[in-house]
Amino acid sequence: MVSSYLKQTKELFGDELYLDSTDSVKNSQNNSAEELDKYYKQIHNCQECQLGETRNKFVFGVGDPKANLVLVGEAPGAEEDKLGEPFVGRAGKLLDKILAAINRSRKKDVYICNVIKCRPPNNRDPLADEVIKCEPYLLKQIEILQPKLLVALGRVAGKTLLNLESPLKDMRGILHDYHGTPLIVTYHPAALLRNSGFKPAAWEDFKWIRSILEN
Ligand code: URA
Repeated sequence: MVSSYLKQTKELFGDELYLDSTDSVKNSQNNSAEELDKYYKQIHNCQECQLGETRNKFVFGVGDPKANLVLVGEAPGAEEDKLGEPFVGRAGKLLDKILAAINRSRKKDVYICNVIKCRPPNNRDPLADEVIKCEPYLLKQIEILQPKLLVALGRVAGKTLLNLESPLKDMRGILHDYHGTPLIVTYHPAALLRNSGFKPAAWEDFKWIRSILEN
């Protein structure tokens, strides 16, 4: 049925149809990059909460605008606040290695951001009113990126997104739903640096993540 439709439209429109469809795929990829860029420009001077006064850089997010995997951390730390990019410290280096093990990188098939875009002083947990102000930014990023899967890194990101007061072990191993997008919660890479005994379980999570993305 599809092939007769294509044959018919080819007779009517010639090869233009095929060129157009390739272009439209490319355009939608370019569009997410452009839309993210436009959105960053709209919000990067945000002063909606007190973190606007103390931050150095607004840490919007980084990665492949056509990624089907979006990783969400808690909030920028000191290095991220300095450079304006998420997960650039020691934990970020470990995250890059984990991503390489599933054949991805922040340039290819992954987008990385945080629930909170500005660093909380002394790396304290984000406060409820900061989450209320900042979460719409994440929702808009997800709307633009349309990923197949979200992965919350660590208990704080998981409990904030899922509105749960659970320990990490109760959030792991479940395919949750975040506003219509499937979401998995796994260890924060900083927790893996503190306790390498968690690494085998984290690797199980990432193999599961890979299998979801490949199916
Ligand atoms: N921890 C996070 O949750 N996010 C970062 O960007 C860096 C460290």
